[in-house]
Amino acid sequence: MIERVRAGVLEQNTVDLLRQIGISERLDRMGLRHDGIYIRFNGERHRIDMAELTGRAITVYGQNEVVKDLIAARGATGRPLMFEVEHAVIRDFDSSAPAIRFRSHGEEHEIACDFIAGCDGFHGICRPSVTKNAIQIYDRQYPFGWLGILAEAPPTSHELVYSYHDRGFALYSMRSPKITRLYLQCEPDEDINHWPDDRIWEELQTRLHSHDGWAPKEGPILQKSVTGMRSFVAEPMRFGRLFLAGDAAHIVPPTGAKGLNLAVADVWVLAQGIAEFYKSSSETLLNRYSEICLRRVWRAQRFSWWMTSMLHRFNGECDFDRQRQLAELEYLTSSPAAMTSLAENYVGFPLAL
Ligand code: DHB
Repeated sequence: MIERVRAGVLEQNTVDLLRQIGISERLDRMGLRHDGIYIRFNGERHRIDMAELTGRAITVYGQNEVVKDLIAARGATGRPLMFEVEHAVIRDFDSSAPAIRFRSHGEEHEIACDFIAGCDGFHGICRPSVTKNAIQIYDRQYPFGWLGILAEAPPTSHELVYSYHDRGFALYSMRSPKITRLYLQCEPDEDINHWPDDRIWEELQTRLHSHDGWAPKEGPILQKSVTGMRSFVAEPMRFGRLFLAGDAAHIVPPTGAKGLNLAVADVWVLAQGIAEFYKSSSETLLNRYSEICLRRVWRAQRFSWWMTSMLHRFNGECDFDRQRQLAELEYLTSSPAAMTSLAENYVGFPLAL
């Protein structure tokens, strides 16, 4: 099966939180800590030392692995976790007794809830259950996509390489000491059948190789897929006893790897609010859920849009636009102030209420 392109960069916050809640055993064993990233343009790689600039770092650990760890942790509590239920509907979330109804193995079920966490993704049922005029949508689609591959080839760079090239953006990443993860800017509706493995490698080599002799190592391609790019925010994120979290409420373009980290931050805020509610019957924090989350969401939206705009080629751009992008890249990689601005956004701002 060809899986969706899934990111693999965890902010320092996300790593700290997984440690704090005691599910970091595999992460600590298999996660790859990166202190910096490379920005490549005009054939040169420029390193930004995020750890030196911010005291924080990122960890490369696949989103699929995080999900496995969460499922195992839930399983260990003995509490239920149900997959592939059908005909799910939520109701009465504007009252203090909301419910979720669904069918599983041919049987109807209803769960009586105090709260519903709508963490059911961009295409889930929670956001569309809200009255249209209660929700404001901000949506921007980009005129390109990413073709992503997973390859059985040992990484030749310890750290990620974000590349601006005349033929389009490329990204060099990894999942383990044996597996590389690479992406190429492509058409938003690119037909993957037009991309035999040889063509993918040729394009990656062209866009990534550097004058210092650095280039990706090739190997069998294990998986490939195309993903579209959009910036999307639904406001507010709370409707009575329904709290939207993660992709149900917002999508960022993948450049900058914020998607999973934003979802983790939402759920952390929600968990603090729910804990406060059961401890002291106070809804103070729950009432601030939307405001607290949206501040981080818009910061990440700006950052992801900026990274995307700086590194991709746009249809219809003129020579001025290209020179402006190159000037931005030159400034970014030579000014400590500009590098720090990228670094503090990339490693993520500390979780706070
Ligand atoms: C990866 C994905 C991203 O979107 C990114 O910005 C960096 C790395 C990844 O899949 O490894």
